[in-house]
Amino acid sequence: MKHDNYVIDDMISAKAIAARVESMAADISLHFEGTEKLVVIGLLRGSFMFIADLVRELSLPVEVDFLETSSYGDSMESSREVRILKDLRGEIKNRDILVVEDIVDTGHTLNHVLQLLESRQPARMMVCALLDKPSRREVDVKADLVGFEIEDRFVVGYGIDYAQRNRNLPYIGAVRFTD
Ligand code: IMP
Ligand code: MG
Repeated sequence: MKHDNYVIDDMISAKAIAARVESMAADISLHFEGTEKLVVIGLLRGSFMFIADLVRELSLPVEVDFLETSSYGDSMESSREVRILKDLRGEIKNRDILVVEDIVDTGHTLNHVLQLLESRQPARMMVCALLDKPSRREVDVKADLVGFEIEDRFVVGYGIDYAQRNRNLPYIGAVRFTD
């Protein structure tokens, strides 16, 4: 499969991301001030870089756990059918939890994950997403905290991939096809 028929347009710089992550972490620390422990749940794989930077800025006792859902595969379209590929290792009943997502697009993934986590009766739950594409929404779901609202373009970088590539870019860019 040919992967090299596109270029990546700069969208959000590493510096802008770092500043926004710092400010989101301050909001989260304030919201959960006094918590015994916050379980930070990263949705794999796209959130790995975001969660790594975010937890370093939190002034709270944290535990880190991960959940993996089925992805787009190599396509740019949501399958709309969400499956859990890897479940949490720890219990979340009566715990404070923070769900960390890379992008909310159609909303199917987040909607499915939130229903699952809510059924396990956490004490308090907050949802943060680095990016939000509100114009793409198909189900009514919202993150409590969003890093950046973006237009309807397919993005990569800072943990986010296109067909598993470009996750290691330190900034966020938009894919533009050249042929
Ligand atoms: P949703 O279920 O349509 O909201 O899709 C959510 C998931 O699709 C995100 O967690 C991403 O992993 C992936 N996704 C959505 N938009 C993009 C994008 O622009 N680039 C790469 N992955 C994306
Ligand atoms: Mg994802």
